[in-house]
Amino acid sequence: MFKILENSLIAKDVYKMVLEGDTSKITAPGQFVNIKLDGKFLRRPISVCDCDDKTITLIYKVVGEGTEQMSRLESGNELDILTGLGNGYDITRSKKPLLIGGGVGVPPLYLLAKKLLEIGQIPTVILGFNAKEEIFLEDEFKALGCKTLVATADGSYGIKGFVTDAMQGIDYDYFYTCGPMPMFKAIEGVVKTSGQYSFEERMGCGFGACMGCSCKTKNGYKRICKDGPVLEREEIVW
Ligand SMILES: Cc1cc2nc3c(=O)[nH]c(=O)nc-3n(C[C@H](O)[C@H](O)[C@H](O)COP(=O)(O)OP(=O)(O)OC[C@H]3O[C@@H](n4cnc5c(N)ncnc54)[C@H](O)[C@@H]3O)c2cc1C
Ligand code: FES
Repeated sequence: MFKILENSLIAKDVYKMVLEGDTSKITAPGQFVNIKLDGKFLRRPISVCDCDDKTITLIYKVVGEGTEQMSRLESGNELDILTGLGNGYDITRSKKPLLIGGGVGVPPLYLLAKKLLEIGQIPTVILGFNAKEEIFLEDEFKALGCKTLVATADGSYGIKGFVTDAMQGIDYDYFYTCGPMPMFKAIEGVVKTSGQYSFEERMGCGFGACMGCSCKTKNGYKRICKDGPVLEREEIVW
């Protein structure tokens, strides 16, 4: 059980939730938690945005009933949460990392950036949103010391266009990304290096039992929840 310390609106329809509890099972950036909500059969998976020895920070967008229910929870409420789920990013592969996040794919890149900085790698970060009012975490990435670029599809802030427009001219030797499938396909069209994609597929059980999230890879079928959500570029069948 985790106790909610904070649950606040940080951008249009986007909330930051800070929870207190046992974080010992979280071992890598890119892992996720699975949240039980009253009256809902399936838990809701949300990426770990940040964590320390006592707290987890999540950033989530209200898209349906479950996340709307989460947005109404208050400090002091308790939540039943499974932690340490998924493989997470392997941070040993890069020297000049590029982090590319789109929308609610941005949160797990924050803990990833912190972990890369801890081993002496300074990431360049590209954040993609539809419009200015949806932007979050830009200041936080900058405060870490990352070169941070923001692209908005409607041109209301930063570079007008998609993350791929912001990628032009960036020097990197490896990339890490999380976001929606159309963004992944656009990235796949321009990247020249190896990298890791984190998939936010719809899930059933969330811990490897139901096969509901299984997808075909060059190394056989993999369960996104257990063998992922992070897959290496070279193994993905698009
Ligand atoms: C590993 C993983 C990590 C995730 N991390 C985050 C995160 O950090 N922040 C965040 O905001 N969201 C994240 N998501 C997505 C999040 O789990 C869903 O948005 C959430 O479960 C929706 O629940 P709901 O009850 O509000 O919506 P529902 O009522 O279940 O659905 C409402 C609408 O959202 C769509 N939807 C639901 N789940 C997904 C999904 N996984 N992907 C795409 N569309 C979906 C439905 O098709 C429907 O159109 C993550 C998903 C996965 C699998
Ligand atoms: S969601 Fe059940 S195996 Fe992945």
